Amino acid sequence: MEIIIHPTVKEASEEAARLIAKHISNKPDAVIGLATGSTPLPLYRALIEMKLDWSHVTTFNLDEYIGLPREHPQTYHSFMWENLFRHTNIKAENVNIPDGNAAAIPAHCAEYEKRILVAGGIDIQVLGIGSDGHIGFNEPTSSLASRTRIKTLTKQTIEDNARFFGSTEEVPKHVITMGIGTIMDARQNILLAFGQNKAKAIAGAVEGPITAVNPASALQMHAVTKVFLDDAAAGELERANYFRWVHDNKPDWQKI
Ligand code: PGA
Repeated sequence: MEIIIHPTVKEASEEAARLIAKHISNKPDAVIGLATGSTPLPLYRALIEMKLDWSHVTTFNLDEYIGLPREHPQTYHSFMWENLFRHTNIKAENVNIPDGNAAAIPAHCAEYEKRILVAGGIDIQVLGIGSDGHIGFNEPTSSLASRTRIKTLTKQTIEDNARFFGSTEEVPKHVITMGIGTIMDARQNILLAFGQNKAKAIAGAVEGPITAVNPASALQMHAVTKVFLDDAAAGELERANYFRWVHDNKPDWQKI
């Protein structure tokens, strides 16, 4: 894992955006995995400002709530169109988001995995992290080899996400999420975490043991993972100063 710590969310998000922009300019038909939640919003704003050519890009989102009508403002379908896609020239047919209203969920999940393979696999997967260490909606104790499937959210995640809904009762309990095995198959992962309420999960994921209790810790086994943090999210890392020192001393050819 490469840990990149910036004083502000803006700087961290802009560096992550430059990495994605560079990839899309080198490979116009890139396959990009995307995430939702508050964390990637500054990244998406930075990408929009760069006015990239998305016309050949294919995207796969990590997850979706089960049972909300597709046009509900809190579906990840609505989130992605509102916060990124409608500001770009991406083709609707190149956008892939799990269908939370699929009639047969296991078959839909298997088909989603197949679509990722047919697209050539994910080049760069963007990830957030839950305060409990989840990536995608792979809650603690998810199999580290899991594939796209239905999951039941923890009460903590429901409470964390209630801010987007009127109340905890309105947050769906079930979701479709790429598995940890699916995420591990991406050629590169970019994990973003900002704010002090992510500091414990990040310390566990980066410096703790690899354990299904902190699903993000599986990324220690991924060869190309960059973790972009602000100072607050890095607050519980014992080696924070080492990570800053590494970043400040990069050879020019390695700089993003
Ligand atoms: P957040 O969610 O970005 O809204 O904090 C992250 C996550 O749950 O993965």
